[in-house]
Amino acid sequence: MIDGKKVLFSGMQATGTLTLGNYLGALQNWVKLSDEYECFYSVVDLHSITVRQNPAELRKRARNLLTLYIAAGLDPKKNCIYYQSHVSGHAELSWILNCFTYMGELNRMTQFKDKAAKHADNINAGLFTYPVLMAADILLYQADVVPVGIDQMQHLELTRDVAQRFNGIYGDVFTIPEAYLGKSGAKIMSLQDPLKKMSKSDENPNASVYLMDDTDTIIRKFKRAVTDSFAQIAYTDEQPGIKNLLDIYCSCTAKTPEEAVKEFDGRGYGELKAAVGEAVADVLGPVQKRFEELSKDKAYIDEIIKENADKANYYAMKTLRKVQKKVGFPERIR
Ligand code: TYM
Repeated sequence: MIDGKKVLFSGMQATGTLTLGNYLGALQNWVKLSDEYECFYSVVDLHSITVRQNPAELRKRARNLLTLYIAAGLDPKKNCIYYQSHVSGHAELSWILNCFTYMGELNRMTQFKDKAAKHADNINAGLFTYPVLMAADILLYQADVVPVGIDQMQHLELTRDVAQRFNGIYGDVFTIPEAYLGKSGAKIMSLQDPLKKMSKSDENPNASVYLMDDTDTIIRKFKRAVTDSFAQIAYTDEQPGIKNLLDIYCSCTAKTPEEAVKEFDGRGYGELKAAVGEAVADVLGPVQKRFEELSKDKAYIDEIIKENADKANYYAMKTLRKVQKKVGFPERIR
C-alpha cells in the first residue's frame, strides 16, 4: 500500500516495434487501472539485453517506449513511468532472488525455451534468469496487481512461488502479487496464423499490426488476415481467425463477444475485417498523434525521466533495505 492505495507494477521491453498485442493486452489496461492504483510502469531495458541490441537503437527505442506510455494516456505526474536501468534495486534484488529460485523452475519456462531456440548462438545466463529479474521488478514495489497478457502468466506464477518461499523463511516481506488479465485482448493472435501469438519478432510484417502503422496499412493488414471457409461469424475456438478478429474488435470498442457476434450476424468476412481495421485505426490514431507531439518536447520528457526515477528509487530502496536486513547483510553505518 502506498498512501492507502494498492500498488500496480508492469513493464514492457523496448525491443522491436510494439504491436497491437502489446497495446490491447497490456497498455490499454494500464490506462484503465491507473486511477485505482499507485502505479509503476517501467521500460524494462535490463531485460532487453538478454538478446543482442544495437546500443544507439536500444536507447532510442527505450525513449520512444517511455513517451508512448504517456501518449497512450498514462499521466506521468500520477504514474511512475521510468527506466528500469535507472533504479539499481532491480538488479540487486534480482541477485538475492536468484538464490531462492531453482534451476528446475527456470528450466520449465516456455519463454526461455522459445528464446533459446531462436537465439541458439547466444543462450546466455541472463536469458535463463530473466524471470527472476521480472520477479524482482514486481516484488521491489510490493505490487498487489500486475496487468499482463497471457504469455506472461507463467512468469507471474514463478514470482508468486519465489515470494512465498522467501516469506516462508523470513516472515511477511513481500506482497504476493495477482495477475490482471483484461476481459478481451489478453492474447492477440497473429493475423497470418491465428494459432500463433502476435509478436514483435514475427518476420512477416503482415502478421502484426504495429502501434505506429498508419490507417491504410492497418486496414490493408486486416483485409489480408487469414480466416477460414466456414462463412459464419461466430466466437469459437473452431474459428481462431474470426475469434481473434472479434477479440480485437471487442477490445477496441469495449463490446462483449456476444454483442459483436450479433452485430455481424449474416454479414460477410470482408465487412468484419473492414470494421475491425477501422476500430483499430480509431484507437491507435490519437495515440500516434499524441506521441508525435510529445516526442518534440524534449525538456518535458527529460523532466519526467528524472523525477520518476527518483520516486521509483525511493520505493525500491525501501524494500531492498528490508530484504538485505532479513537475509543477514550487515547494516550500513551512517
Ligand atoms: P513484452 O515486452 O514482451 O510485452 C509487454 C506486454 O504485452 C503483452 N503482450 C500481449 N498481450 C496480448 N496479446 C499479445 N499478442 C501480446 N504480446 C505481448 C505481454 O503479456 C506484456 O504484458 N517480461 C515482460 C516484461 C516485464 C514485465 C515485468 C511485465 C519485465 N518485468 C514485470 C510485468 C511485470 C515482457 O517481455 O513483456
